[in-house]
Amino acid sequence: MKILYAASEALPYASTGGLADVVGSLPQAVKKELGEGADVRVVIPLYPTIRRKFAEEIEMVCELNVKLAWRNQYCGIWQTQANGVTFYFIDNEYYFNRSALYGSFDDAERFAYFGKAILELMSAVEFYPDVLHANDWQTAPAVIYLKRKYAHLSAYQNIKTLFTIHNIDYQGIYDFSILGDIFELAEWDRSVVEYNGCINLLKGAIVCSDMVSTVSGRYADEILTEYYASGLHHILRANQDKLCGIVNGIDVDYYSAEADPEIAENFTAEDLSGKAACKAELEDVCGFPHAPNTPILAMVSRLASHKGFDLVTRVIEEILTETNLRFVLLGTGEFELEDFFTKLEDRFPGRVCIKLEYNKSLSKKFYAGADMFLMPSKSEPCGLAQMIASRYGTVPIVRETGGLYDTIHAYNEYDGSGNGFSFTNYNAHDMKNTVEYAVSLYMEKKDVWAELLKNVMKVDFSWSVSAKKYIDIYTKLQ
Ligand code: GLC
Repeated sequence: MKILYAASEALPYASTGGLADVVGSLPQAVKKELGEGADVRVVIPLYPTIRRKFAEEIEMVCELNVKLAWRNQYCGIWQTQANGVTFYFIDNEYYFNRSALYGSFDDAERFAYFGKAILELMSAVEFYPDVLHANDWQTAPAVIYLKRKYAHLSAYQNIKTLFTIHNIDYQGIYDFSILGDIFELAEWDRSVVEYNGCINLLKGAIVCSDMVSTVSGRYADEILTEYYASGLHHILRANQDKLCGIVNGIDVDYYSAEADPEIAENFTAEDLSGKAACKAELEDVCGFPHAPNTPILAMVSRLASHKGFDLVTRVIEEILTETNLRFVLLGTGEFELEDFFTKLEDRFPGRVCIKLEYNKSLSKKFYAGADMFLMPSKSEPCGLAQMIASRYGTVPIVRETGGLYDTIHAYNEYDGSGNGFSFTNYNAHDMKNTVEYAVSLYMEKKDVWAELLKNVMKVDFSWSVSAKKYIDIYTKLQ
């Protein structure tokens, strides 16, 4: 079986969020499962940081030109190997030598080019996959072009597509004036990408792909409804027969309290003693005096309101006033939120620490050092942080949505089951009550908390189950 994953980011090469975790670990898990029977490859753009950090590892395969409407653009193809998976990097400095991965005025053109380059790569390296597994709107053009422009070519006609939606809020919406000039689509392609009077790349990929998946079963149900679908529920309902949800796994070797070299001391579910050193280290990082019995609540998140910050900003002061909780936050994002939390830190010295950074290594210290991990998302397609926190014995507190609903089950005080805390409604005081309930258990029932930590750490969040589900889809598509 030949599979080509296409995405705009993949760990360890380039990352702005959970997509990179998935594209950096699912292909390896599939390869591991299928062994010699599979040829698994991945393609992402060659961003300047990759060229700098991985200069020794990547090598050029070939150079070609890629046409995009009237343009004739350079395309270098570079590659490396990781755990039996080939990673390709598309090199074009004009498009990808930017300080940020996204957010340029010409993102439409950058990712239209990337879409074309993915298809041209197949013939350049003579790798025509059985399945092109594309991810998010940045790779939607590849799916659309395959169906509308390449499918009549014999080498391409048997390629099937799976398109995965990692977050439906990001759709790639553009004005129709660039349909031909940038996207190189014809008038007869208009209806394929048209939604609400605009070009909508996500919609185009949903329509053009053979199967559509999203990253949890619950989110697959949710996006059929208006509340969650960011306007695309009609399209998803019309394509419901090809939609499914598969919850993400995480790389359990990379995120491992037992083996992680980046945390103060390793520990396991059976012997949690090392966690105290991790907590002390986090306190040092935050400039807090050591207080082993004072609970720390952490968030590691993009600062975007849909991650639940509406709720946090509403009640965090009440929580800090009514409990002894310490609050630590790592992430960057919306200016208003950065501003709010900077001021909060000033008002609660020694109890609140805000690090406005995207820093993977520092995040490990947050995951391992905290006692509780808050993820009150308004919507959460899958969410990885709740699983990562669990791997480090930090108890997730989540809103019951998307992958949070699928992966975290509320602690039940009658039978001791559950691996976290949860609340149903997107309501600030429901969240506050849940946090305060967790704090009271932590403070007053040490034995119960210790049992809960075991439940939390023992859940299997590896890729093994989900990789098999993807393989089932690839097999059916073939
Ligand atoms: C997006 C989603 C997140 C998911 C990740 C990986 O970032 O917002 O919920 O875990 O993609 O699929």
